[in-house]
Amino acid sequence: MNISIIGSGYVGLVTGVCLAHLGHRVICVDNDTQKIKELKQGQSPIFEPGLEPLLKRYLKEKKLLFTTSIEEATRQSLVIFIAVGTPSKENGEADLTYVENVARQIALHMDSYKLIVEKSTVPTATGQRIERTIRMTLSQRFSEDPSSRGRARWRNSSKKNSSKGEVPPFDVASNPEFLREGSAISDLMEPDRIVLGVESKKAEELLREIYKPWKAPVVVTNMNSAEMIKHASNSFLATKISFINAVAQICDRVGADVLKVAEGMGFDKRIGRGFLDAGVGYGGSCFPKDVDAFIRLAEKNGYDFALLKEVRTINESQKSSFVRLIEDKLWIVKNKQIGILGLAFKPNTDDMRLAPSLDIVVALKKEGAIIKAYDPQANGKAKDVLPPIQFCKDAYTAAAGCDCLVFLTEWEEFKSLDFAKIRRRMHQPLIFDGRNFLDQDRLERLGFEYFGIGRGKV
Ligand code: UDX
Repeated sequence: MNISIIGSGYVGLVTGVCLAHLGHRVICVDNDTQKIKELKQGQSPIFEPGLEPLLKRYLKEKKLLFTTSIEEATRQSLVIFIAVGTPSKENGEADLTYVENVARQIALHMDSYKLIVEKSTVPTATGQRIERTIRMTLSQRFSEDPSSRGRARWRNSSKKNSSKGEVPPFDVASNPEFLREGSAISDLMEPDRIVLGVESKKAEELLREIYKPWKAPVVVTNMNSAEMIKHASNSFLATKISFINAVAQICDRVGADVLKVAEGMGFDKRIGRGFLDAGVGYGGSCFPKDVDAFIRLAEKNGYDFALLKEVRTINESQKSSFVRLIEDKLWIVKNKQIGILGLAFKPNTDDMRLAPSLDIVVALKKEGAIIKAYDPQANGKAKDVLPPIQFCKDAYTAAAGCDCLVFLTEWEEFKSLDFAKIRRRMHQPLIFDGRNFLDQDRLERLGFEYFGIGRGKV
């Protein structure tokens, strides 16, 4: 099938590559000319395991094409996915300017039936608004109003592109994406479920056809419900994280271990072990933004989603209470050397968006700490968003001369560090594990003082 994806960010690019892998001919569009230039040469703008080899392969096989032209993409495809950014406004609401603009652009250039599918995370009823925008733009384009001659001329020239000179039919659908950064390719290729928000049989059939090779349950519903599934899923996962983080706070106060508590809870099939890892909180481009947007959507519709507001508050306080713990154990922070290991918001990505490390580094620096940091992938991006600190080439260099080591991302390579060597290099043997992923017993045997989150020791 000929498919276009408008917006070659995380979701758009990975979706494009995976659809090419399924055998479709995919055109990826972005308005960032530099990004498109790099993508045409097979360079991925993001670090995502497995992405670049597939990108290079399907570029070579001409199954994947890149352009900055929405017009070209629209004309050449039957199905057009919208995967542009939906950043947060000041009040938390999703800013849908890019979505509206893309919908209009598609309508200005379509000359035959198109299925327009929204993939970006958007508030409920956005699909309906996309449909209305396209309908109104088409109606203008094809109207014969003689009173505005200049515009009529332009309309006529567009009309020529239509095979019959009639308004081309179209459908809009919602097909939310649930991929996680760091495991995006496998999440997309082996999804837990496929959600199709459709308003016509034709839209459902086309989408089913696209995803035919994937053996996942397909949930078919209307557009509003599909959009709500995405909101509710992400907000529920964020709630799970904040719930276990609140439990961790109590564990520390009463001498219980949150790791065992999560294990004990997780065996209950109704609860499940996933997303019960206490730590310095969630970050990234999705959860913080999606929680804000859901709160705002509820508010606009007359419901005070107080539960989600608290989820957000707990997430913020995880970072400040971790900083307080570090300050307490270090006693004097001023001029102490602190090694930060892991800066990205989670492992296997170089994404620094709303990473907990941002607030934690700023807070420690404010107290006068001298910070050295290392992240296996995010050093480059972190330089642009963190205040001036020393970036190191590896964990051992970051640890040298430090009064404590603070782990903020659970990178696999950190688990197998030579901690005896690290200890010899440090000024004092103090470790703060903001992700509860290190082997506490082993570290204590090596002579470290170890502090995790909710491990029953404050
Ligand atoms: C998330 C959703 O999982 C995905 O379905 C959606 O499409 C986009 O948002 P992503 O942001 O890539 O994906 O990361 P995810 O793995 O879900 O982690 C989000 C954040 O939560 C990370 O900062 C992670 O460290 C944190 N987290 C996750 C916890 O603190 N505890 C957990 O138990 C799980």
